[in-house]
Amino acid sequence: TWTTDAFIEESIREVRNQVGDRRVLLALSGGVDSSTLAFLLHRAIGDNLTCMFIDQGFMRKGEPERLVELFDHQFHIPVQYVNARDRFLKQLEGVTDPEEKRRLIGHEFIQVFEEESQRLGPFDYLAQGTLYPDVIESADSNVDPKTGERVAVKIKSHHNVGGLPKNLRFKLVEPLRKLFKDEVRKLGRSIGLPEEIVRRHPFPGPGLAIRIIGEVTSERLNILRDADFIVRDEISKRGIYHDYWQAFAVLLPIRSVGVMGDKRTYAHPVVLRFITSEDGMTADWARVPYDILEAISNRIVNEVKGVNRVVYDITSKPPGTIEWE
Ligand code: XMP
Repeated sequence: TWTTDAFIEESIREVRNQVGDRRVLLALSGGVDSSTLAFLLHRAIGDNLTCMFIDQGFMRKGEPERLVELFDHQFHIPVQYVNARDRFLKQLEGVTDPEEKRRLIGHEFIQVFEEESQRLGPFDYLAQGTLYPDVIESADSNVDPKTGERVAVKIKSHHNVGGLPKNLRFKLVEPLRKLFKDEVRKLGRSIGLPEEIVRRHPFPGPGLAIRIIGEVTSERLNILRDADFIVRDEISKRGIYHDYWQAFAVLLPIRSVGVMGDKRTYAHPVVLRFITSEDGMTADWARVPYDILEAISNRIVNEVKGVNRVVYDITSKPPGTIEWE
């Protein structure tokens, strides 16, 4: 039977055997897979692990700071923080098509990753939080015929990005490759990862950029970040965060008329999306109590400048998707 302690010991031994005293690069996203991996590798190889966090500017309020605080200050796993916000925003100027947004973000991610790994490198290995389901569909990676090691030809980020440039074809370290998601959670927990990461709601790689319908601007990002914060704050303080698979806000580019005090407003609507699900493949819209919806709606309209209407999405998946883009 699978015990986490035995798994941790064995993985540490395997990683040490594989990489010896060479250097390993890990792209940290803040999600449970890459975070668990960082904890495991840091225990195995210490300072020979370099964690890089690329801040695209699409994270939720306070998240980049929290990530650095947790890893760097609390757990003493150094994080190379890369502020690439302006670059990503520039890429998205005038872009409204959802697939084009994803493509441009993924492409820019590789670009930044390449520059930064050269600056911080050289590295011999790339650590990836590949899970068993990813291995099964592993057209992603080549096996080096000489050593039998897997070599990265794509980077497994939450972006489905295209091929890696030749100079970035690191050998792979993938200690989670035999695990399913629930096993990664157990492992993360037993290796000391805080619950806030272990049980965090899924968050798409392109982040808030695909929860702003239409063009992404810094003004819209600020609006959505504030609305999203209120959603999480209201459910966290009621202790119901974990009742949902995901709970978030979407910003629409249209505007509608409202009234505030004695003034007419003409501003954006925010959509609330609350989902229950087992695996994200199918999902049901959550029957959130009216008083909670009311509290969220009141706060968003009163506190977030630029929003004057809040609507609730009652579409399940299928036929809807969880995200709006
Ligand atoms: P959909 O919208 O397809 O989402 O019903 C299913 C699950 O996948 C997440 N999702 C993404 N995750 N990169 C990611 O890492 C993405 O581009 C992406 N798009 C959707 C979504 O949040 C939900 O949990």
